[in-house]
Amino acid sequence: MEILQSAAALQAQTEKWRRDGQRIGLVPTMGALHDGHLRLVQAAAAENDVVVVSIFVNPTQFNNPDDFRLYPRLPEADAALLEPVGCTALFLPSVEEMYPQPSKLRFDFGSLEQVMEGAHRPGHFNGVATVVSKLFHLSRPHRAYFGQKDLQQVAIIRQLVADLSFDLELIIFPTVREADGLAMSSRNRRLSADARQIAPQLYKALQLGAKLLEEKRPVASVKNDVLQFLAMEETIVLEYFEVADAHTLQPIERISKSQDVALCIAAWLTEVRLIDNLLISDKGL
Ligand code: PAF
Repeated sequence: MEILQSAAALQAQTEKWRRDGQRIGLVPTMGALHDGHLRLVQAAAAENDVVVVSIFVNPTQFNNPDDFRLYPRLPEADAALLEPVGCTALFLPSVEEMYPQPSKLRFDFGSLEQVMEGAHRPGHFNGVATVVSKLFHLSRPHRAYFGQKDLQQVAIIRQLVADLSFDLELIIFPTVREADGLAMSSRNRRLSADARQIAPQLYKALQLGAKLLEEKRPVASVKNDVLQFLAMEETIVLEYFEVADAHTLQPIERISKSQDVALCIAAWLTEVRLIDNLLISDKGL
């Protein structure tokens, strides 16, 4: 596995692969890799000739300086995990390499970013769209891999790909969970032992919400019950719990028959902010 640290090296390598007719898979990450990331890399290795994994803790998508400072950074351990699962090249740029000058371009995704993560983390999706566009331009992948845990990010990147005519296929993988249901996330490493014990309650809350919706309970009453369930755990400080259209991500008050629905949650467990979601298709609703 090659380690590339400059944008020029990544561009030169991926251009050569393209000239040689190689199919390129890209897995963008911020490192502190877990099984969820590794499954994306394995899938990319199975479906492409070469796989680029990027590890870059992107400062422009953090609206909270402490979150950026404390985000886990484990480049050596990450590199050791990547080769055995089929990574061909690890792109590990510095902040200066990715942002030689402050970027002025601003994205506006309209209603897609005015809810949930976009509403609670101003500027977050602008930073995501900026860095993902840079990564797409530098590596020109045939396929790019993302996890469903960041559901709103997926919707934003879909829009980005469509609006800017990126010639690539997006592959979205289901959320990978720990045995107790906690969605895998690099931020889980920062949970205290107590918070780690309580964290699976977020998934339980989503499951409760899904069950109540399947029983055809009105959305407002489902939200109420889920909020009460979460209030029993004082370590959990809820930021939002939403019942939303799975594609537009707009909140839903009444579910229509053919609608795909996403239950989405964000909460603080002491200092650590976690998100999760659960998709329910129209079946059974
Ligand atoms: O999902 C992430 O880890 C990041 O938002 C991404 C897509 C790598 C962009 O920095």
